[in-house]
Amino acid sequence: MFCPFPRILQDALIDKRAVGAFNVGNMEMLIGIIKAAEDKNTPVILQIAEKRFTHSPLEFIAPMLHAAAMRAKVDVALELDHGCSLFNIRRAMDLNFNTVMYDGSELPIEQNIEQTASIVKEAHKRGVAVEAEIGVVGGAEGGADRMANCASLEDIVSLGKKSGADALAVAIGNAHGHYKGKPQLNFDLLRQAHEALDHLPLVLHGGTGISPEDFKKAIGLGIAKINIATANFDATASAAFTYADTLNGKELSYFDLNEKIIENVYKCTCDHIEIFKV
Ligand code: 13P
Repeated sequence: MFCPFPRILQDALIDKRAVGAFNVGNMEMLIGIIKAAEDKNTPVILQIAEKRFTHSPLEFIAPMLHAAAMRAKVDVALELDHGCSLFNIRRAMDLNFNTVMYDGSELPIEQNIEQTASIVKEAHKRGVAVEAEIGVVGGAEGGADRMANCASLEDIVSLGKKSGADALAVAIGNAHGHYKGKPQLNFDLLRQAHEALDHLPLVLHGGTGISPEDFKKAIGLGIAKINIATANFDATASAAFTYADTLNGKELSYFDLNEKIIENVYKCTCDHIEIFKV
C-alpha cells in the first residue's frame, strides 16, 4: 500500500524500530526489495537520489516505483533522496513521490533553515512530507565527495525545530559508500539530539558498512529511518560475477542474470530489515 511517510516513521518510533529506506536503480532491485519487505511483513521506503538520475532517469523509474508501492502488501513510501534543486524536487512531487529530502547541508545554517522551511510549506500544501539534513554526511550521494563532519547540537535543534520538516537526517560521523575504516558514530550527539527534538524522527544515512550493534544502538537513540544504497548496488553488481561463474560454457541468458540480481538484493534487504526490527 502506498502510505504517508510521517505515518510510517511515527509507527517506527513508537515500536522502537527503524524503517529501511532502500535506494533503487532498476527493476530487479525494486522486485528484490519489495519481495523482502513483503516476506518480512514490514514497511519500507523506496528512494532514488537526484545524483542517480543519469543512470536511472526519473521519468522512467518514478512510475515503476509508484506502481510497486500501490501493489505492495506492506506500507511503502516513495522518497526523492538528496534533492538538491527545487526543479527536481518539484518534478519528483509531480511524479507521485510522497516525500522529498531537501539536502541543504552545504548551506550556512540560517539559509538551510530558510530554504528547508520554504520547501516544507510548498510540499505540505501538496500532501508531501520533507526530510531535512544537517551536518556533513561523508561520501558522494548528495553531490561532490565530502569528508564526514558531525553537525553541532545547536544546529541540529535549530533546523529540527524551525524548519517544520517531518524527519531530520543528522551527520554523526556517518558516510555514504564504503567506509575507509570502522565507522565512528557519535552516539552522545545522537542521544542529545533525540532528547531535544523529542518525537521528530531522526534519519541515519550511509547505512552500508555500519555494524548490527551500532544500528541497534542508533535505533535505541531515536533513529527511525536508515538509508541503504551501496549494499544493494554491490549486491546487484556482484550478481554478474556469480552468474558468470555458473555459466560453464552454457548459452548466455539475461533471465538467469535477472533472477540472480533479484535474489542477491532480496537477501541483502532481508538481512538489513531483520537488524532494523531490533
Ligand atoms: P550507503 O550508500 O552508504 O548505504 O548510504 C545510503 C544513503 O545514505 C542514501 O542517502
